[in-house]
Parts: sequence; structure tokens; C-alpha cells
Amino acid sequence: MKNVNGTIKKIAINTGGGDAPGLNAVIRAVTITALNKGWEVIGIRDGYNGIFLPEKYSNGTGLINLTYDKVAYITGQGGTILGTTNRGNPLKFPMKDTKGNIVEIDRSDEILDAFRRNKIDALIAIGGDGSLSIANVFAKKGLKVIGVPKTIDNDLDKTVITFGFDTALGFATESLDRLHTTAQSHGRIMVVEVMGRYAGWIALNSGISGSADVILIPEIPYDINKIADFLNNVVSQRKNYAIIVIAEGAKPLGGETSVIEKEAGKAERLGGAAELFAKNLEPLTTKEIRTVILGHLLRGGSPTTFDRLLSLRFGAAAVRALADGQTGVMVALDPPAVRYVPLEQATNRMKTVPPDCDTIMTGRELGICFGD
Ligand code: F6P
Repeated sequence: MKNVNGTIKKIAINTGGGDAPGLNAVIRAVTITALNKGWEVIGIRDGYNGIFLPEKYSNGTGLINLTYDKVAYITGQGGTILGTTNRGNPLKFPMKDTKGNIVEIDRSDEILDAFRRNKIDALIAIGGDGSLSIANVFAKKGLKVIGVPKTIDNDLDKTVITFGFDTALGFATESLDRLHTTAQSHGRIMVVEVMGRYAGWIALNSGISGSADVILIPEIPYDINKIADFLNNVVSQRKNYAIIVIAEGAKPLGGETSVIEKEAGKAERLGGAAELFAKNLEPLTTKEIRTVILGHLLRGGSPTTFDRLLSLRFGAAAVRALADGQTGVMVALDPPAVRYVPLEQATNRMKTVPPDCDTIMTGRELGICFGD
């Protein structure tokens, strides 16, 4: 961990990537903790767009002065009061060249200039792997930076859990609970697609907690024939319906992840896993199949108490780190404590579900099929 000298008077905070319940709680904790130290707090709108596109905002600036009243009652609010984007990477900013072609430009120095012009001494960057990797570049360029890990996907490696995950998981589990009765009433197979990108944490944990019969995750490619056998010969002996949870990143054996959009400069958009699965299962079962896509519903709503508290702890710890002279680190939960991990070690890696972990073992012991 690097220590830096110099007194801090003014900090900035931004939120990047997909929103997650708990972002506002982090913003509140950072703001109050910093104001209580006598620092000023500036919120950058929509990732770094508040700096790049000031004309987009009503008063001609994408920088907001965060005060006690602006964060007074936002702990329980989903989303982010600052706005966010997964399209404004300052290291690969999409712009038109003289021929009208879209090219990616490194505009990171403009951000550093803006910080100097506005006398901002440090940045607290809240985001997933993409945003934290950008923060790491700024730290290497000499800006004081602390990262705060966020994602409903829970796929960041150096923290036991990210905020947003518990809220998304709770919603997914409740949705499965609701689907049992309608599935049973009609004797149907319900296929429920959940987010999570290339990691199966939401599917696995909600599937087990919500009594699914089959759980399909990206880490275990599935064999449709084995699943059909299991449904026709095992599940049908016990009940007249089945619940299948499929992660958006799940793929058939020898097949590919279902992608709806792939464009330079943008994160791949996943989708269609449930439809593909249902289409392939249809000829192998006599039961009706219905698909449900939980999608962005998983990102909405009020954060759970767990996510609120984790977010508040992360926000306060981020300010504490700056006050202690740290930079280039990410706050991380290492129960029971919040610790600091160098951004260099925390970024450009993904935490996926180990196929031999005890949660998968538990699922198998409960008779759940993982498609393998
Ligand atoms: O990373 C969070 C997440 O919700 C993923 O689970 C999902 O694949 C993606 O973001 C969706 O992004 P968008 O909001 O751009 O559709």
C-alpha cells in the first residue's frame, strides 16, 4: 500500500458501470465522513461524463457540490443520485474522427487537468472491475484514488462480497418463490434467467435458496439431454412442475454464451440464454415451458440492510484511507473487517463460482441438477 503526503481539502466521488443498490449509501457515507473532516465533496455526474460533457447539464457543469442536505435521506434509495454510465471510459472514449469514423481516444489527462483546475485533491471511484481498472490508471498517473467495489454480480475477486449482490439475490429468491405456485398450478416448466454476466453467483445462490430443480451457471456448461432425462425421469416422479434457474452467461456444452450486442468500446451485452435453452428443451419434454427474464429488476429497489451497512462501511473506510494517506487501494470486505487491497491486485480479474465449492456440493446433495 502506497502512502502519500499532502493535506486533503476537496475530494471528488463518482459512480461508474451498471447501478447497484447501495451506491447512494456509499455516496452518503463518503459525503458525511468527509464533510465532518472539513473537506469539500464534489460529485461527478454520470461516471466521467460530468467532466467531458458539461454542456449536457442544466447549469453547464457536471460537477455537484455534495452537502449534508443532498445526502440526507438516500441510504435506502436504489440507483445513484450522481447517475452512471457504462459507456464513458476515459481511457477509450468513443469519438468521431475527421472521416466520421468512431475511434477510441485516451482522454485521461483531461480528467487530471479538470481535477487540478477545480483544486480536487483526490477521487473516490465506486464501480465494478472496469471502473476500478480506470481508477488504477489514475492512481498510477499520480492522482490520489480509493476504489469502492460495486456489482450485483459479485464477481470481484478481492472482496468477499460486493454491495448490491444481497439485494439482487433476495429479489431473485423471492421471484422463484412466487413462480412455484403458478408452475405447480399449470404443471409447467418455468425457466428463469438472471443477470450475473460471466459468473453464476446470483443463479447459484438464489436457485438453492428458492428450491430450483435445475441451476445452470456459466462455470458448468450444460448438456440439454441430461437435463431432459433428469426432468422426465427424476423430477416428474416427485412433482408435476419444475423450476430452472439459468444465468445469463450459461452456455450449452460445446456452445457459446448468448450475446445480444457486441460493439467496440462497449461491454458485451448478454441475453437470450433462457430462450435458447427453452427452444432446445421443447422437443425433449411433453410439458409446457415458460420463460421469465428478471433482468434489470434485479438492479432496482431499496438495498437490503446488509447492503446498506456494507455500503456505509465501505464509504466511511474510503475516506478514512485518504485521511491516512493511502492511495491506489480498494476497500474490501474480509470478514469481520473492511480492509484495503492494492487496486493493481484487485482489478482485471474475475471471481467465478468454483465448480467444487461447498454451495455446489450442497446443491448436488439436495438433488439439484447442474446440467452436467
Ligand atoms: O454488471 C451488472 C449487470 O447488471 C450484469 O449483470 C448485466 O449483464 C449488465 O450489467 C447489464 O448491463 P446494461 O445495464 O448495460 O444492460
